Amino acid sequence: MSKHVGTKRRTVPEIRARKDGERIVALTAYTTPMAALLDPHVDLLLVGDSVGMVLHGLPTTVGVTLDMMVMHGQAVMRGSSRALVVVDLPFGTYEESPAVAHRSAATLMRETGCQAVKVETGEGVAETIAFLVGRGIPVLGHVGLRPQAAHVEGGFRARGRTPSERERVLAEARDSAEAGAFALVVEGVASDLADEITRAVDVPTLGIGASVACDGQILVTEDMLGLFEWTPKFVRRYADLRGEITTAVERFAGDVRQSRFPSEKETYAFRSAATS
Ligand code: KIV
Repeated sequence: MSKHVGTKRRTVPEIRARKDGERIVALTAYTTPMAALLDPHVDLLLVGDSVGMVLHGLPTTVGVTLDMMVMHGQAVMRGSSRALVVVDLPFGTYEESPAVAHRSAATLMRETGCQAVKVETGEGVAETIAFLVGRGIPVLGHVGLRPQAAHVEGGFRARGRTPSERERVLAEARDSAEAGAFALVVEGVASDLADEITRAVDVPTLGIGASVACDGQILVTEDMLGLFEWTPKFVRRYADLRGEITTAVERFAGDVRQSRFPSEKETYAFRSAATS
């Protein structure tokens, strides 16, 4: 029997069963050391395509490739042992057809060992979710603000401002849940719409810029840790990594320039092997 049977990782059915139950704690992770730090405290780690913006300096998530997601997915799997790991299907790897989506999702699952993939909703995506789930690929849906649609929307725009847009977001959420998504990320919508979505679907919702009534919450870890000068309104900063890093680097630079680093304690002193 495989040694992976009996793993302590959270499973998709366990997360699915948390609807209206214990709140789900989720964060993004892209690297092994960060995954190892987060893993004891969270239920779900998302290897989000936000990696393109957060780690690679891209202006949107549109430039993220399947190879990038494989590499970061592998790194997060190596650093974690408890959390459910979900990897994003990046832009252009799933929208064309269910068959294309299946090839991309199977690559992610095979190459990384992750337990599920995430897709942003939109035209035809419910059909794709049903196709993937029917073939053994668990899917986390993503409704509301869809970062991969930034060029169509004219930026990262909160959604559900007009009655027709609210209806569309609600319908996408319902369709995704009915198609078999095991949970839904609800991003960037008014809190009453997030509440309505949470009541309307029978799978857990993970809010980000949504509502405290969602079944769980997810944030981009680097936002939450205060690594950036600017963060969206919905982010609560739990640390000031930007300040901490700046102070540490200033101290290091000063020590090097004033020859205070390295000290004797921080250097090697081998005794000569040659004896007379
Ligand atoms: O890519 C990502 O990190 C995400 C989260 C913001 C939910 O989709």
